[in-house]
Amino acid sequence: MKQKVLVTGGTGYIGSHTIIDLLENGFEVVCVDNGINSDTYALSAIQKITGVEVPYYHIDLCDLEALSIIFKEHNDISGIIHFAALKAVGESVEKPLLYFKNNLESLINILTLSIQNHIKGFIFSSSCTVYGDVSQSPVDENTPIQEAASPYGRTKQMGEKIISDSLKHTTVNSILLRYFNPAGAHSSGILGELPINPPQNLVPVITETAIGKRDTMTVFGTDYPTRDGSCIRDYIHVEDLAHAHTLSLKFIFDGHQTQPVEVFNVGIGNGLTVLEIIHAFEKQTGVKLNYQLGPRRPGDVTAIYSDYTKAKHLLGWSPQHDVDDIMRSAWKWEQFRNEHL
Ligand code: UD1
Repeated sequence: MKQKVLVTGGTGYIGSHTIIDLLENGFEVVCVDNGINSDTYALSAIQKITGVEVPYYHIDLCDLEALSIIFKEHNDISGIIHFAALKAVGESVEKPLLYFKNNLESLINILTLSIQNHIKGFIFSSSCTVYGDVSQSPVDENTPIQEAASPYGRTKQMGEKIISDSLKHTTVNSILLRYFNPAGAHSSGILGELPINPPQNLVPVITETAIGKRDTMTVFGTDYPTRDGSCIRDYIHVEDLAHAHTLSLKFIFDGHQTQPVEVFNVGIGNGLTVLEIIHAFEKQTGVKLNYQLGPRRPGDVTAIYSDYTKAKHLLGWSPQHDVDDIMRSAWKWEQFRNEHL
């Protein structure tokens, strides 16, 4: 029998790609999202790609009563992947309480129901942001956690602790996936990031500039102590990231997890500068990007990229895509979006 997985934030960017990966690997999926930063278009794209109509609940996870209905209607859920959260770093600095309330209350509710309903596996969207301003890369899972650079980052740090503390004496096993910089889109070209608010992340800013939605873009900082002066990040293809969730659930379901909570970095282990990313885009697409060099963006760390040895050894995960795939798929998606959505 197929294992049933509840995906929170399932109409979002990483959530929707993960649903596809789960369906393609023999799982059954139920999706919940409050739709504040995503669109149900993702569900129709998922259906086109996989042929599966995923049951969808338009519910805010902060509403415990409404959320518990899902578990009454699906009493056979064995895994949860919890993506639903606010994630704009800048907004979190302006509205910290909104971030604490939303990201932590929703987490507490879904954990409460996970314990009550004897869920076997709980996967949490964490972030490399929990490492804070690191002085050295690559970082592995034992790299000491620094002060968070933003309230958003703090919600991820606190989320990890809340999960560890509350699952210690339960039968729920959890995996915390620390994502590096997710980018790119589904190979079909009909699914990708579809933010309701203007994106601030580098790759969608690049594609929106290239297609003319923005006149120009700025490289934030050219005086960092890096090979070309711009910041270094570890850009991971969203399909590779999605698959890490499927492997994490399998790891728990197959009985390989030996402690209540495991942490894994999910990045490709290769740091690229902002300028290298821009040049990779130009090379892959043949489009000349209108960009300017500008001052640093407050809160940015100089360089961070991952050591993913642990995920490779325990989960059997390794990236299948490189930066060129990221740029080609992101561009294909931007063009599709521009024409059809
Ligand atoms: C941050 C967090 C990440 C989080 C994400 C959510 C860290 C280390 N990472 O990613 O965990 O999931 O926010 O949004 O805290 N850039 C430009 N011009 C632009 C946009 C970006 O130069 O118009 C540069 C940034 O300065 C940065 C790089 O591109 O150096 C990547 O930026 P972005 O895509 O926003 O991601 P992070 O800030 O690394």
